[in-house]
Amino acid sequence: MPFDHNDHYHPLLLRNLPPGGRTALDVGCGTGRFARRLAARGYEVDALDPSAEVIAEARAVGGGPRFRRADVTEEALPAAHYDVITCLASLHHMPFDTVTRLRDALAPGGTLLVLGCYAGATWWDVVASPANAAARAAVYASERLRGERTPPLRPPVQRPDMRLPDIRREAARLLPGSSVRHLLFWRYLLTYEKT
Ligand SMILES: C[S@@+](CC[C@H](N)C(=O)[O-])C[C@H]1O[C@@H](n2cnc3c(N)ncnc32)[C@H](O)[C@@H]1O
Repeated sequence: MPFDHNDHYHPLLLRNLPPGGRTALDVGCGTGRFARRLAARGYEVDALDPSAEVIAEARAVGGGPRFRRADVTEEALPAAHYDVITCLASLHHMPFDTVTRLRDALAPGGTLLVLGCYAGATWWDVVASPANAAARAAVYASERLRGERTPPLRPPVQRPDMRLPDIRREAARLLPGSSVRHLLFWRYLLTYEKT
């Protein structure tokens, strides 16, 4: 798929980083595109993913983050350590209450940013579907103009099974003070600041 919905939201995520952060954890990092963007901003980045294939690819590209093969639901995360924890299109691969492990690993004042996927249709699909088709066509055309390229390795995908209202309810219960913003391309942005 030429237009990547997750990569599309990287600039939004970068705009939501807290000022002055130094340490970051990217959960379900895939081939590491967002982890590298954090490293380029000066963060010391740990990046985790249980897939041996994507971690091998991430390490081959390099770019600063410490890529580790690990399942975040089992990994012992350092307590109160990270200034930023990001989780892009991966929370729906795990039980939702994994967010409490991530909350515990946040340093005081740290920020958790989840770019999440939800189940079910919403009224936004009326706009999202044509916008998606247009974006895909534009990216496809520009790639053709620049010449053929090797398709990138795709990390494992899974269908989400939680609907947006359930995500909002669970986020409010487990992460009081968090916000969940509905985004156009079948995504939401959960933001939580640990006080
Ligand atoms: C759809 S991919 C997203 C990858 C990347 N964040 C991106 O934006 O391209 C979901 C990733 O979550 C990873 N994942 C699945 N279960 C996980 C777990 N328990 N702990 C950490 N990562 C997990 C998968 O291996 C996969 O690479």
